Amino acid sequence: MSDESFEAARVRSNTVQAVIDGPDSPARRKLRVLTGDRPTGPLHVGHYLASIRNRVELQDKGIDSFVIIADYQVITDRDAVGELGTNVFGCVLDYLAAGIDPARTTIFTHSAVPALNQLMLPFLSLVTDGELRRNPTVKDELAATDGRPMSGLLLTYPVHQAADILFCHGNVVPIGKDNLPHVEQTRVIARRFNNRYAGGETVFAEPDALLTESPLLLGLDGTKMSKSKGNTITLAMTADQTAAAVRKARTDSERVITYEPDRRPQVASLLEIAAGFDGRAPGELAAQIGDAGAAGLKKLVTDAVNEGLRDHRSRRAELAADPAYLHTVLRQGNEQANAVADATLATVRAVMRMNY
Ligand code: TRP
Repeated sequence: MSDESFEAARVRSNTVQAVIDGPDSPARRKLRVLTGDRPTGPLHVGHYLASIRNRVELQDKGIDSFVIIADYQVITDRDAVGELGTNVFGCVLDYLAAGIDPARTTIFTHSAVPALNQLMLPFLSLVTDGELRRNPTVKDELAATDGRPMSGLLLTYPVHQAADILFCHGNVVPIGKDNLPHVEQTRVIARRFNNRYAGGETVFAEPDALLTESPLLLGLDGTKMSKSKGNTITLAMTADQTAAAVRKARTDSERVITYEPDRRPQVASLLEIAAGFDGRAPGELAAQIGDAGAAGLKKLVTDAVNEGLRDHRSRRAELAADPAYLHTVLRQGNEQANAVADATLATVRAVMRMNY
C-alpha cells in the first residue's frame, strides 16, 4: 500500500474519530461500526488492548455497532476448521465479559447469514484478479503458509470482507494497519457498484477505517503474536497460567531493563503489554524495573495483566457456566444480522433488475 493512500486513510480516520468524540449530530447518528475477528484460536491480550476495549468504548459512546465472528475466514489459509465451536463461543464470552452488550451491539457469524455471503457474487464481478493478487495482506498470509498454493477463498477473501462491511452499511471499520488494504478494497467495490449497477446512485457509501494506534505486540517467543501459534497470554488464562506463560517469554541477557523497541523488541513488547493494562508509559515502567532484570520485568508484566484482567476473567467464568445464554446471544445476533442482510440484498437485487 502506498504511503500516500495510507496518509489519506489516516486523515479520514482522524476525521471520523473527531465526529465520534464530538457532540450529537446527524452525521454522528449515521455512524455504524463493523468490526470482527477470525475465530482461529482464543482471543489474547493483543486483541484486548488493540480492539476489544475500543469496541466497548465506541458502543458506550452510543455508536451503533456490529461485531462479526468471521468463521468462513478461518478456512482461507488452512485445511480444517479446527476447534471452531470452542473458538466462536470463546469470542462471544470475551466480548460479553469485556462489556459488549448484545442489546446494543449485534454479534453474529458469517455462516449464519446467507444474504451476506450472496453479496460476494456481484462484488466479485467488480474486482480483477490482478487487484486481488497485489493485495499486500493476501500476499503476506500466503507467504506465511509455507508453500501452500493460493486457494480461491484466500485470493478473494478481501471481497468477502467487503460484504461483511457493506451488508450492514458499516461506515466505520476499526482495524489495525494489516487490514487496511481490505477497507480500501471495500471502498473501491462500493464505488464501482454504485457506478456500474446503480447508475451512480449511492447504494453503498464508502466506509472509513478507524486506525488503532496501539503498537504491534510480539508473541512471547519473539515472533508475531498469533491466536493460532499459542505464543501469547489469552484472556481465558488463570492468573497462574499467565505467570507460567510470562515466565517462559523470551527476553535478553541485559540486566538493566530499558524501553528500546528497535534494539530490544521482546523486552519492549512485554513493557507495552504491561503499559496497556497499567496505564503508565512503557519507558516509565522500564525505569521502575531498572536493574531487577528479566525477572523483575516478568513479575511486573504478570501483575499488570492479572490485575487488568481480573474483572474480565471473573465475568468470563460466570458466563461460561451458562452456555444456553451464549447460544441465545448468538442466535439473536444472527437473526438481527439476517434481517439487515436480507434488506440489503433486496435493494441490490432491485438495482440489478433481479427482483423477479
Ligand atoms: N480480517 C479481520 C482480522 O484478521 C477479521 C474480519 C473479518 C474483519 N471481517 C471483518 C475486520 C470485517 C473488520 C471488518 O482480524
